[in-house]
Amino acid sequence: MKKISVLNQKGGVGKTTSVVNISAALARMGERVLAVDFDPQAHLTIHLGCNPETTHQGSYKVLTQSESIKDQIIEARENLWLLPANIDLVGAESELVSVVGREIIFKEALNEVSDSFDYMVVDCAPSLGLLTLNALAASDEIIIPLQPHFLALQGLGKLLQTVQLVNKRINPQLKVKAILLCMFDSRTSLSGEVKADIQNFLQKARQTDLPWSQANVIPVHIRRNIKLAEAPSYGKTIFEYEPECNGAIDYSMVAEYLLNGTPNTNSQPQPTEENKTQTTQQQNQTDTETAPTCENRTSETPNQLDKENFKIKDFSSDYTIDFND
Ligand SMILES: Nc1ncnc2c1ncn2[C@@H]1O[C@H](COP(=O)(O)OP(=O)(O)O)[C@@H](O)[C@H]1O
Ligand SMILES: [Mg+2]
Repeated sequence: MKKISVLNQKGGVGKTTSVVNISAALARMGERVLAVDFDPQAHLTIHLGCNPETTHQGSYKVLTQSESIKDQIIEARENLWLLPANIDLVGAESELVSVVGREIIFKEALNEVSDSFDYMVVDCAPSLGLLTLNALAASDEIIIPLQPHFLALQGLGKLLQTVQLVNKRINPQLKVKAILLCMFDSRTSLSGEVKADIQNFLQKARQTDLPWSQANVIPVHIRRNIKLAEAPSYGKTIFEYEPECNGAIDYSMVAEYLLNGTPNTNSQPQPTEENKTQTTQQQNQTDTETAPTCENRTSETPNQLDKENFKIKDFSSDYTIDFND
């Protein structure tokens, strides 16, 4: 299983959108994917059409109650499983603060399902706290989504410092795989300038043993596309919501890049109907074939959770990483 964390402590940069649609694209290509929601705002869970207020399973129970991860996974789509975040996740960091080995709880829990999936993709919380630390301890690779505006690089230093510490002290495997430019607008010269700045920065690290010394800017940029912003309110991936749009094309190509190292620029997303009629052959090979499906999936109507029901907003962690205790 290849384990990827999608990380940026800034909110609104495209983490959740990327996790949903990269996971869905990989699943459509026949990969068995586990998407993990480590953000107490539960946007990944909501985006995949589940209600975090009525979902009892989730990452919270794995982290705080030593529950088997197998029992906490929901089958979200064909080839795509979700470890959801429910409303309790907001308390996880403070509950774990005095637990010995608290940074590697998730890493150890994952051992149980490492043969069941080809990919794990974690939607990290917008903080560098204990939830994020658990994701990084369990991952091989990090993808950093960035929105190319003039403050894009602000905060990147702190993020990379955290990655470096985790790499040194907890997980020597951990590497920054790539920067993914999201909400890219090729009409503005700023997007190009930010991209050049990042490439320059990465270039300087090439001959070092820093965990980002092999990182690249993914050659496919996610263009600004309103369909990507609309899809979450229907609880749909972009391939279900608007399979022909630019957002679907871009995320397909990113998944292709992750699978094969090069994006196939001719790749076009297939209609979702085809996906629906595929066999469940892959599914039956996994230990998760009995995973419950999400009962609360919405399909045709926008869900109102964001606006009305789900109150955990603007979460930010007070937990700071102290590697000395
Ligand atoms: N390429 C894009 N074009 C237009 N809107 C986007 C795009 N990517 C994300 N969005 C929207 O921008 C907002 C922030 O994206 P999101 O993925 O939730 O960021 P994060 O998880 O980092 O907070 C969401 O409303 C999302 O729907
Ligand atoms: Mg998010």
